[in-house]
Amino acid sequence: MKTLIKNGYIVFYNKIARLDVAFCDKKITEIAEYISPVGFDNIIDAKDKYIMPGAIDAHTHFAMPFGGTISSDDYESGSLAALAGGVTCYIDYAIQKRGDTLLEILNHRKELAKNKSYVDYGFHIAITDFNEDIADEFKRLKDYGVSSIKCFMVYKKEKMNVDDITLAEILRLGKENDILVNVHCEDCDLIDQRIEQFLKEGKTSNWYHYLSRDEEVETLGVKKALKIAKDVDAPIYIVHNASKDGIKAIIYAKDNGQIVYAETCPQYLYFTNDVYQSERAAQYVCSPSIKGKESRTALWEAIWTNYIDVIATDHCPFKLSEKAWGDNDFTKTPNGCDGVENLYRFVISAALKNRLSLSKAVELVSHNPAKIFNLKNKGDIEVGKDADIIILNPNGKHIYHNKDTYSNEDNSIWEDVSYKGTIEEVYVHGKLAFKDGKILISKEEGQYIKR
Ligand code: URP
Ligand code: ZN
Ligand code: ZN
Repeated sequence: MKTLIKNGYIVFYNKIARLDVAFCDKKITEIAEYISPVGFDNIIDAKDKYIMPGAIDAHTHFAMPFGGTISSDDYESGSLAALAGGVTCYIDYAIQKRGDTLLEILNHRKELAKNKSYVDYGFHIAITDFNEDIADEFKRLKDYGVSSIKCFMVYKKEKMNVDDITLAEILRLGKENDILVNVHCEDCDLIDQRIEQFLKEGKTSNWYHYLSRDEEVETLGVKKALKIAKDVDAPIYIVHNASKDGIKAIIYAKDNGQIVYAETCPQYLYFTNDVYQSERAAQYVCSPSIKGKESRTALWEAIWTNYIDVIATDHCPFKLSEKAWGDNDFTKTPNGCDGVENLYRFVISAALKNRLSLSKAVELVSHNPAKIFNLKNKGDIEVGKDADIIILNPNGKHIYHNKDTYSNEDNSIWEDVSYKGTIEEVYVHGKLAFKDGKILISKEEGQYIKR
């Protein structure tokens, strides 16, 4: 199938240009001011529209066992939601169970996703049970197609955290084997101390989720992780940044030559901690918590000054009935929020409202995640890359209603949020996959991508 998109404005990470783009089967074959329509099976007029690379959500948790349950989107519903929102690739977290080898957990996740995903996917592996055999497996991670792993400084009760010495060793091994280490930064001892105190005092509402994991808790974690990475001279990727002083510490480290990548998420750029005082507080319970206004401003400033590298979602939804487990004890509210369907809508809408440029949006959700996480054929509209493409109508409008979502959820932090622009068409490696609200491909389309 040969497709030609004519008359649109292509959004590159560093410029926007009025160009035609052609693709044949899976790959982009030509980009030029004028491409003759002769010989094409499919010609699309994109006059007054933008042509953009599909987004890459570098942080999802599909079917994640967590908080006494499993996150409600599996690879089928999660990837469907991704597709509807113009996300044509995601990197999901394969979290090690105690005793598992890294290959076992990877193969388990690949099996869960096989023939279920509408869009391409890769995996980061989260190490929770480090030992000599796991250290040895680092040498083989690249052969598995895994070039990034994750460490949690938190979730001690769930036995998911690594201690500081282990984190240093993993960062060292990461550097030695060219594996990027992603770190969830919060001070877990301080969290536990605060939780104990709050519960003793009968302070049980979800507001205390925020107070037990406030700006200080996150900043201490970020500073410690940066110090450990510096000590072993290793690059580090800090996931889901939400706090102003954490970002300040990252800015300082970057300015002083440390190799640090910073990710944030739409929930931290849109909401503030007052959500934890609302009736729907449980829905916003995620870690790190959503912070105060000053943190939100600091995150936007870090985007404008190029210190944030990636916006990803940390998509990890739970059902309302599960969120209600914490009604009388905030520590029982499962941690996580939805986002994958709204990632691109959110950044595009922000761009169309002049919060950032469309090129910057592409850089943050496509170009940079592809570059940082070795997705060689993704991330840009470029000859030779996969034809993962969206067509954006900048004059459209989308209001998110949970009842219309493709995600398997019965609540959303994005309910009633209004986005400028509509993603009218989505191409997944050259095939028209989504148009006018309809899914046009099958769930076998997405492939595991070695990276
Ligand atoms: O609350 C969150 N973020 N849940 C998912 C696990 C994690 O920490 O990324
Ligand atoms: Zn995390
Ligand atoms: Zn996460």
